[in-house]
Amino acid sequence: MTIPFLDLGAATRELEAGISAAVERVVASGWYVGGREVEAFETAWASHCGASHCVGLGNGLDALHLAMRALGIGPGDEVIVASNGFIATLLGVSMAGATPVLVEPDPATHNLDPARIEAAITPRTRAILPTHLYGQPADLDAIRAIADAHGLKLIDDAAQAHGSRYKGKPIGGLADVSCWSFYPSKNLGALGDGGAVTTSDPDLARRIRALGNYGSAVRYVNDERGVNSRLDALQAAVLAVKLERLDEWNDRRRAIAAFYGEALAGTGLILPDVPDWAEPVWHLYVVQSTDRDRLAARLAEAGVQTLIHYPIPPHRQKAYADLGLGAGSFPIAEQLASSVLSLPIGPHLSMREAEQVADAVRTACRG
Ligand SMILES: Cc1ncc(COP(=O)(O)O)c(C=O)c1O
Repeated sequence: MTIPFLDLGAATRELEAGISAAVERVVASGWYVGGREVEAFETAWASHCGASHCVGLGNGLDALHLAMRALGIGPGDEVIVASNGFIATLLGVSMAGATPVLVEPDPATHNLDPARIEAAITPRTRAILPTHLYGQPADLDAIRAIADAHGLKLIDDAAQAHGSRYKGKPIGGLADVSCWSFYPSKNLGALGDGGAVTTSDPDLARRIRALGNYGSAVRYVNDERGVNSRLDALQAAVLAVKLERLDEWNDRRRAIAAFYGEALAGTGLILPDVPDWAEPVWHLYVVQSTDRDRLAARLAEAGVQTLIHYPIPPHRQKAYADLGLGAGSFPIAEQLASSVLSLPIGPHLSMREAEQVADAVRTACRG
C-alpha cells in the first residue's frame, strides 16, 4: 500500500474533458498571453474572492513583490511577516527592496499573532503581511485594527487559502491586496506556474498590471521599470475549468480533516486548532509530534507519504543569514519547525485511504 501525499494526476483526470476542450480552444485561438481567456478567469476569480479586480501574474512570488512595489514599498521600508511558514513570503518583501520583520505566530493556529505585532512596529514599518497558512485564515480584523491605528497597509499572502473564509467572508476581498499562487499543488492549481492579486482598489490593480508588463500600461510607453510576469491564456483557461470545482473539492478536504480530527484524538499528537470564525480549506493537514521524525519514518514504512511544512524557519535559512537572527531568536517558529508533520489530504484522497492513514498514525503513536 502506498498512499501519496497528493494525487495531482487524479485532479486532472477528473476534469480531463473540460481541460482538453479549454486547451484546444486556446491553441486554436492564436492568442497565448493575456486576452479573453485571462480576462474571463480574472473576472471569475475576483468575483469568487469578493474583490472588484483581479490581475493575473506569472506566479505567487511576483504577486507579493509587485503588490508591494505598487504600494510604493521599497528600500528602507519594513514589512511585518510571520516567523514561520514558507520563505516566498519573505522573498516577496526582499524582491520589493524592503526588509522583512519577523513576528512569532500564535502556536495554536500557526498564524501571525496579532498580540505580538505592535512591539515590532517602527517608524519604517509600511505594511503587515499575514499568510493564511495551511489554508486557515489569519485573524484579519485584529490585524486590520493594528494596521489602521498605525497607518499601515494590509497585504495578505493567500497562496494556500483559495476559498477559505474569515467570519463568513471570502479571503481575497478583505485586505488592501491579496496575493495568490496557482502552483499546481494549490487548492486552485494550474498545470504550471501562475499567480494573481485581487483588490478592490482600481488604481492599485492598474499599477500591478503595468508592473507585470514591463512597467507599461500603454504599449511601448514605460513609466517605470517593471518585469515580465503575466498569466498565460492556457493556464487561465485551465484555471477557469478548475474553479468550477473549487468549492466541491474544498468540501472533500473538509470531510477528510473532520475525519482526521476525530480519528486522531487521543493519540497524543497536537491536532490543528480552528478558531470559530475561521473556515479553513485544508490546503494542508498539519499535526505536531514531539517525536516527529520517528513518526514520519514509521508512516513511510507503512506506505504513507508525509511532508514537513516547513523544516527550517526562514530566519535560519542561509538566504537570510544577513538578518543576523541566530538559533533561539524565534522559539515558537523553531519549535513548530521541529514538530510539524503534514498528513496526506486532497480532494482525491478517498475516505478509505484516509482511514488507512489514521490507522497507521494510531499504530505509530502507540508503538
Ligand atoms: C504561502 C506561500 N506564499 C507564496 C508562495 C509562492 O507562490 P509561487 O510558487 O507561485 O511563486 C507559495 C507557494 O509556492 C506559498 O505557499
